[in-house]
Amino acid sequence: MSYKPIRKAVFPVAGLGTRFLPATKSVPKELLPVVDRPLIQYAVDEAREAGIEQMIFVTGRGKGAIEDYFDMAFEAEAIQRERGKDLSALEGTRIEPGNAVFLRQQEPLGLGHAIWCARDIVGDEPFAILLPDEFMKGAPGRGCLKQMVDAYNQVGGNLVCALEVPMADTPNYGVIDPGKRDGVLTEVKGLVEKPALGTAPSNLILPGRYILQPEVMKILETQEKGAGGEIQLTDAMASMIGRQPFHGVTFKGRRFDCGSKAGYIEANLALALEREDLGEHIRAFTIAELDMIKISAAA
Ligand code: UTP
Repeated sequence: MSYKPIRKAVFPVAGLGTRFLPATKSVPKELLPVVDRPLIQYAVDEAREAGIEQMIFVTGRGKGAIEDYFDMAFEAEAIQRERGKDLSALEGTRIEPGNAVFLRQQEPLGLGHAIWCARDIVGDEPFAILLPDEFMKGAPGRGCLKQMVDAYNQVGGNLVCALEVPMADTPNYGVIDPGKRDGVLTEVKGLVEKPALGTAPSNLILPGRYILQPEVMKILETQEKGAGGEIQLTDAMASMIGRQPFHGVTFKGRRFDCGSKAGYIEANLALALEREDLGEHIRAFTIAELDMIKISAAA
């Protein structure tokens, strides 16, 4: 059976990024670099690799720099060219004309509300959602969304990325009530947003990659505020369970929660360590730094 292709992706980037204040006073969280590429660039690369054609950015006040980022860097390109310098660092940083849509969520009323703001652009097709502060690192050519699109082509319906975390972390996330498992697929029987400690139905959380049917927009239209007083995407998705197929997909790769300081630093370290131009230096520095800590702890 063949299902409608996933051609569009929504990137909700209207959040305030308060965990990164004061940096996010004037720099959107999504433009913070992991080594030298902004978080949003990794998410767009992941979407492209999965076959996405249209990138829809739901932005907010103070996020205009994201739109500029995907434009032509006229001065930088001209100067680099004039000086005969390599331009490869800029590869993939421009979105093809007509394939980027920027729209605004005027108030940060929650992730569900941000997605609903894109309803007319998404239209009547299944679509993907990528939260750019979740950095999902798959093997080359096997990014998280690509793995999910492959699963979608088998089962259709709605899919969420599913990730195991320690039970103590579940109150920070949307959590899956799992049914039958079959390879990378887990049937989703229920979803709950930010359950109180000790009440989560499993330790399978939603780390921010989704493939959803357009009907979710109708549900979001009348969705009441949920956890944290925000309009939650998880609550709207939960209403679709039973009406349409709904699966979790286990991601093969590494996930860095770059919305948190620890996750962001881990991502920088992990990527720097595997880079040819930086790995050796960072490895030596890290070892020396750890030795210094040991010495001062012993003194
Ligand atoms: P977060 O929960 O990480 O919130 O949002 P945040 O505002 O970005 O960061 P903190 O917690 O204040 O540090 C998850 C995703 O949903 C988007 C965010 O941009 C992020 O991609 N979002 C959240 C919106 O687009 N609009 C909202 O109203 C809320």
